Amino acid sequence: MAVLNFGSLNIDHVYHVDHVVRPGETLAGRGYRVFAGGKGANQSAALALAGAPVAHAGRVGRDGRWLVDGLSALGVDVAHVVVDEEEPTGHAVIQVEEESGENAIVLFPGCNQRIAPDQVRTCLSSLDIGDILLLQNEINGISEILSEAAGRGLRACLNPAPYGPEVADYPLDRVDLLIVNRTEAVGLCGDPAVAEEAEVGQLLAGVRSRVPEQTEILLTLGAGGAVLDGPAGRLCSPALSAGAAVDTTGAGDTFIGYFLAARLAGAGDETCLRRAAAAASLCVTRPGARDAIPRRDEVDCFLGGGTP
Ligand code: RIB
Repeated sequence: MAVLNFGSLNIDHVYHVDHVVRPGETLAGRGYRVFAGGKGANQSAALALAGAPVAHAGRVGRDGRWLVDGLSALGVDVAHVVVDEEEPTGHAVIQVEEESGENAIVLFPGCNQRIAPDQVRTCLSSLDIGDILLLQNEINGISEILSEAAGRGLRACLNPAPYGPEVADYPLDRVDLLIVNRTEAVGLCGDPAVAEEAEVGQLLAGVRSRVPEQTEILLTLGAGGAVLDGPAGRLCSPALSAGAAVDTTGAGDTFIGYFLAARLAGAGDETCLRRAAAAASLCVTRPGARDAIPRRDEVDCFLGGGTP
């Protein structure tokens, strides 16, 4: 069974700051580094580092070839990444707070938003019935890709991040596994009475009302762990800690890649959630997005009680 991840590739410009800049304020950054990122590329990297076979489809400008080479070096099949001769690669301006490791991100989509219908058709025709298509929300054409995938009998996994109002109009009935964090769950609930602090049961009920019964929902809650809700019931899993958070960028992507990789390897849901939590907890102890994703042996070592 193959996984094709159709998603963004970004160049991340990361500034370390005392606090996220306020309106009207000019703030001196304490440090600046450029990293490989993009939710799509991060998730492909996590799948590959977890040992899963994965192909990535997407679009970069000429300035982004190094992102593609980096993914390829990790073992990701990049044959479906197109180099756009006209538009630059997408980029993110990321502020990371020194003390908490929390971030704030401004995204410039660049050619992530120039996915053309013929690229979609070519990529999806390389898959077989039952193969997995993974999507986030940093490229254009999500509705069309989901519809095309359903027509081809693919299993779709959607992480609608970053959340925007357009997500409510996506054909979510075509999604087999929907992965959301609190913000995305609140957005999907579409009910002003459901706020970020809502109880998990309320959040899941709201999201469930948007998708069919057979769709699995994976709700990630950061330090609150994760909940998998599907036809087999509801399973809660705690977060793990591998040390102080330095940079939380890419932790969610790491969780998703490791969760799917464990599933593909045939692990039970509890194991999948535990491996994902372990990988995400290691990720936050390191700077950057893709560069912070741990290798499989580091996750094994952490779960075995050792220090990676
Ligand atoms: O999820 C983290 C990613 O979000 C960053 O790498 C950045 O590129 C943004 O897309």
